[in-house]
Amino acid sequence: MQNTCAVILAAGDGKRMRLNKPKVLCEVLWKPMISWVGGWCEKSGIENICVVLGNQGEMVAGLLPPGYSTVYQAQRRGTGHALMQARVFLEQHPGDVLVLCGDAPFVDDTVIAASYDHHKRHNLDVTVITALLENPQGYGRVLRQGDALCGIIEQADATPEQAAIREVNSGAYWFKTDFILQALSGMDTDNAQGEYYLTQAVDICIRQGGRAGALLSPDSDVVLGANDLRGLRLLSERARVRILDTLCANGVELLCSDGVLISPDTTIGEGTVIYPNTVLRGECKIGAGCVLGPNTMITNSSIGDGCVINASQIDSAKLGSRVSMGPFSRIRPDSNVGDGVKIGNFVEVKNSILGEGTKLPHLTYVGDSDIGARVNFGCGCVTVNYDGSAKYRTVVEDDVFIGCNTNLIAPVTVGKGSYIAAGSTINRDVPADAFSVARVRQENRDGGAVKIRAQLKARKAQP
Ligand code: UD1
Ligand code: CA
Repeated sequence: MQNTCAVILAAGDGKRMRLNKPKVLCEVLWKPMISWVGGWCEKSGIENICVVLGNQGEMVAGLLPPGYSTVYQAQRRGTGHALMQARVFLEQHPGDVLVLCGDAPFVDDTVIAASYDHHKRHNLDVTVITALLENPQGYGRVLRQGDALCGIIEQADATPEQAAIREVNSGAYWFKTDFILQALSGMDTDNAQGEYYLTQAVDICIRQGGRAGALLSPDSDVVLGANDLRGLRLLSERARVRILDTLCANGVELLCSDGVLISPDTTIGEGTVIYPNTVLRGECKIGAGCVLGPNTMITNSSIGDGCVINASQIDSAKLGSRVSMGPFSRIRPDSNVGDGVKIGNFVEVKNSILGEGTKLPHLTYVGDSDIGARVNFGCGCVTVNYDGSAKYRTVVEDDVFIGCNTNLIAPVTVGKGSYIAAGSTINRDVPADAFSVARVRQENRDGGAVKIRAQLKARKAQP
């Protein structure tokens, strides 16, 4: 798409959302709507993007990727007025401009490409992206004579016959930049809402003998937006199905989609199977041939091939390949788990590195630690990383065996190949290949239990 730019109209407030933030910051599957819209522009190869901001616009600006232009619309006087604020940007980017609504997250790269193709092939001044809806309530209706576009009429201005039309305006358009710059100067507020309607550009084009057309999107989701939290939920539900369909087409297997929520910025390799109640949030990269779930939540993490994550949670971590984990374990931020690591049940790992093939099969806490390869943690081991005021690191070198119920009091280093006896509390470094035992020696008193039982019985018999 040579000589193209985009303007995203995003000055609307979100009063009906009751969230005290601009509407375009409302999230659909954890991703703000403005980021969905900007993301599709970028994916389409449109490099110059301008966002029209309104009330609390600084909140939106703070979230935009570097390189975006912004303009402010001080008063909300309609979609035409919003685009007028981008006049200087338009003058700087001759060619064609894609205008999008910041609150319609499903105008995707497919429909952007199809409409651009239509726009160029027919050499149009304006191309409106439209869709057919069962219930067109609230949308601008598309007026046609035969196939030819002859205008867009807003709900508030429509006659009952016009209101019955089911083809609606998505609010997304391609314009020749020259054309829209002069059309913006010709707009008025002579309509039921007293606003500058961007849709008037179609009338202006036709009146001037210009070329106006419409592309009917086969995917009617392109018009979907939200006015309230219920509408927002419906968008997330719709997005959920769209994402799952795409994943299935790419070789991801779901036995049943109940409770499966996958963010739009997650990628999953072929042959991965996802069980119910698996939630993948933010940006996750999941390898091929994994089994995730049931009852698993992974946030902003990368997981290698062939991992099995069962009923566990992973946040902001990196896992290698063939890691198995769960049920009921947790990896917290800044952890890096090597290939073939086995994390069993009731294990917590935080801000730690685990080397290849290391095993933490049960009931263990590893925090602020650098653990080597092939280390075996017995059941119930704890890295004691916190003294009440500061955190310290534990270092365990390769091939260490740590017996059950061992406490490693940081800062401490356990040398390569050493062996720690069960129940030890280690507060001094252990040399390589050493055997370390740190617990009270066991004492057995012959017949001692008989004596104790007699004492207890005598005590009970006293009045
Ligand atoms: C608009 C279209 C309608 C279309 C519908 C699709 C007009 C006149 N009507 O109506 O034909 O079916 O979108 O959703 O264009 N905005 C601003 N500044 C403003 C007004 C709006 O930035 O002063 C932004 C909003 O943030 C939103 C977009 O423009 O992202 C659309 O505005 P909205 O008020 O939702 O337009 P509709 O009345 O729904
Ligand atoms: Ca709207």
